[in-house]
Amino acid sequence: MKKITIAIDGFSSTGKSTLAKQLANNLGYVYVDTGAMYRAVTFFAMQKGYINADFFDKESLINSLPYLILQFKFNADLGFAEMYLNDVNVETEIRTIEVSRFVSKVAEVSEVRAKLVEQQQEMGKNKGIVMDGRDIGTVVFPNAELKIFMTASATTRAQRRYDELIQKGDNVTFEEVLKNVEERDHIDTHREDSPLEVAQDAIEIDNSHLNREEQFALVLELVNDTT
Ligand code: C5P
Repeated sequence: MKKITIAIDGFSSTGKSTLAKQLANNLGYVYVDTGAMYRAVTFFAMQKGYINADFFDKESLINSLPYLILQFKFNADLGFAEMYLNDVNVETEIRTIEVSRFVSKVAEVSEVRAKLVEQQQEMGKNKGIVMDGRDIGTVVFPNAELKIFMTASATTRAQRRYDELIQKGDNVTFEEVLKNVEERDHIDTHREDSPLEVAQDAIEIDNSHLNREEQFALVLELVNDTT
């Protein structure tokens, strides 16, 4: 079976990463979570004091970009790759609601996008990759053989994210999570550089009423039709 590139885009908390991981494991492909890369850059900016609720020093962040090293390292116990920033594992730190609050602002910066897109294209140059994000089918791999665009209602998505955060022991309210999901949707779809949009040749899946297994079976069929 020939190896292909699978691009999965969509709104936040649509279960893109769960689907992408299932596919990668099943097909023996590499999985790349590009949201983790934008989150790692955001975590860096927060640590350095370049961004907070009422301030964003874009210039300093842009000047630091050449010194930022982002790597995925496979954790065999977990069965997936974790995000490393300048050789430090930041997998837990990047998943907090604080990082979610600022990540879409950081992702608007063209210089940040250019750096990450270049690295993502390099990772996918040999195909056999499942990549999820917001601009994979439109910008990173416009020639991907299979493009999926995932949607679900904002309340369904916020509930999923809320359950995840509560399970991890985070102290958040449902309203806070819903507000964050809606704010990110708005910024991600309205930004000038690489806004979130459905690629012309993408297949849209609304998974509000699909469970993981149903969704996986559906997409696996699409993969088999493509390869
Ligand atoms: O996928 P995740 O929700 O972790 O992504 C976090 C944020 O990173 C998104 O809300 C978006 O602002 C940004 N992002 C992006 N382009 C990508 C992946 C993520 O702009 N390819």
